[in-house]
Amino acid sequence: MDRRRHVLICGGAGYIGSHMVRALVEKGWEPVVFDNLSTGHHESVQHEGVTLIRGDLMDKQSLRRVFAEYSFDAVAHFAGLIAVGESVLSPLTYYQNNVAGTLNLVEVMVESHVLRLVFSSTAAVYGNPGTEPIPENHPCLPLNPYGHSKLMVETILEDCCQAYGLRSVALRYFNAAGAHPSGEIGEAHASETHLIPLCIRAAMGTGPELKIFGDDYLTPDGTCIRDYVHVCDLADAHISALEFMDQGPGMHVFNLGNGNGFSVKEVLAAVEKVGGKPVPHRMAQRRAGDAAVLVADSSRARRELGWRPRYSDIETIVRHAWNWHMQQKFGGE
Ligand code: UFG
Repeated sequence: MDRRRHVLICGGAGYIGSHMVRALVEKGWEPVVFDNLSTGHHESVQHEGVTLIRGDLMDKQSLRRVFAEYSFDAVAHFAGLIAVGESVLSPLTYYQNNVAGTLNLVEVMVESHVLRLVFSSTAAVYGNPGTEPIPENHPCLPLNPYGHSKLMVETILEDCCQAYGLRSVALRYFNAAGAHPSGEIGEAHASETHLIPLCIRAAMGTGPELKIFGDDYLTPDGTCIRDYVHVCDLADAHISALEFMDQGPGMHVFNLGNGNGFSVKEVLAAVEKVGGKPVPHRMAQRRAGDAAVLVADSSRARRELGWRPRYSDIETIVRHAWNWHMQQKFGGE
């Protein structure tokens, strides 16, 4: 590819988006980040070659101005609310942000003849699946408004591909984890709910003891099993998806996971091994809405996108996350 290509990254200041921005810069693309900074961080995209525009997908006029100013080859859409529990309490907020926000984006894309979109979807679309590993053609029965909102967008994109010649790839992430190997960017959620950062904070003494949500599941050690996938591997898949859309119009869905399941207790043990410190913890009640086992069949992404995860080992994923947390704790000293 000889020409530098412009890509709009909605939600590019967030956890996964900011890793994608780094990957794009490394590949010679020119990312323009559009982010309302409600959960993202401007420091995460302060990097040479990156433009940050503060704006909200609910504001269609500001989106129109951005599309008028730049000539985009494609859009990657990471912006959205992601907390499952919160989505149950505030479904309207989730549908507004995740569905109505995306409708605005796609409308302005179609108006502007920018017809390539990579969309951040989720394994939450499967609900409580009956098989493992889960292929993309498994029935989708989300258990909460978050999962419903992502599935609704997938349906909308499919219809827009038919009607307007849109090219779209929806990537269903399993459990995004880890941090950039440089230690410069990582998972910085203001109110953290994810297992690996919570284990690390407990071990470092910067957070409370970990509560293990249930040890009476039908799994070998009784705790839930998840498929943890490195955030830089997710970013790589997005780059491949951008290139994949050169092949033609249509909607394509890919799972992204390593195909290896780790229980909560196994993750806790990996954090203790990597950090060399115990993770203070106690048993707690099951968390509502948790499936026992979620493991991806990502063979389609390997086959069609040529996706090859670089950091599939759980200890590497945890080590990168640990290094980033160390930077946060001691980086300024
Ligand atoms: N867990 C604990 N204690 C905690 C936090 C988590 O035991 O304090 C357990 C959970 O019960 C679960 C596992 O650790 O079994 C992983 O939980 P996370 O909250 O880290 O991740 P989830 O699997 O719940 O959710 C992730 C994404 C969601 C996405 C979902 C798709 O964060 O956005 O995967 O399955 F919807």
